[in-house]
Amino acid sequence: MPRLTSEQQQAIAARVRYYRDLGVYDFYRRGEASAESQITLESASEPIAAAAAEETMPKKQSPAPQKDLIAAGSLIAPEKREAALRAIREEIGDCKRCPLAFAGRHTIVFGEGDPNARLMFVGEGPGADEDMQGRPFVGRAGQLLNNMITAMGLEREQVYIANIVKCRPPQNRTPEPEEANTCTQFLFQQIGVIRPEILVALGATAATYLLGGKASLSSLRGRIHQARGSKLIVTYHPAYLLRDPRQKKEAWADLQMAMAELGLKAPKRSSAE
Ligand code: URA
Repeated sequence: MPRLTSEQQQAIAARVRYYRDLGVYDFYRRGEASAESQITLESASEPIAAAAAEETMPKKQSPAPQKDLIAAGSLIAPEKREAALRAIREEIGDCKRCPLAFAGRHTIVFGEGDPNARLMFVGEGPGADEDMQGRPFVGRAGQLLNNMITAMGLEREQVYIANIVKCRPPQNRTPEPEEANTCTQFLFQQIGVIRPEILVALGATAATYLLGGKASLSSLRGRIHQARGSKLIVTYHPAYLLRDPRQKKEAWADLQMAMAELGLKAPKRSSAE
């Protein structure tokens, strides 16, 4: 099946944005698509097409899961995932889709790591350090997350790290539902490309938007959920652990659950300190 060029992908996304600006949100499929207009799920252009489709939908105002943008069961070949992630980043562009674009952000923090990671961490949103460097979890909380990853016997480069929102909320406040629901369409595409075996939600905001509903962290910890085609484990946000280090033991128990699922053994004398 022919693939769309990046110019064609951009043209489609721009056209959909144009219609949305005109107030047209609904599009209907006209019978079978012609061979030329079909987009293969295996191709890196899928996230772009999915993003374009998603842009036709009115944004929800409450925490709720967005439609799974990459059909359940569809897999992007491992060697194409890096390109697929790049395509999602290109689609995001110099994003102005939500108020965080106008709230003093310096950079969009897309996320980073192994496109074929078995384990993916999702935090809340970039802080000041991340906003300056354009990378997730590089400040104090990031140092602790690095230690947690090392304690699991992994290197940071082996996992994937992203956030619910990609732009820094002012004063590090919790993202508003409008902001999170606008931004998670891209996070969900990233998850759809990477298809990690385990997602770890770092803190309540990540858990809320990955699971599509609010619940206390204590009620969500200690068991395995299903979210976006992966198993999901909920644990404390590293910034919270910095404020209350007594909970590190609990967090380590959560990570050990993830390790058991992945068949990982902790290196000797491991600790998430
Ligand atoms: N806190 C987060 O939730 N994400 C980051 O990237 C950094 C700090």
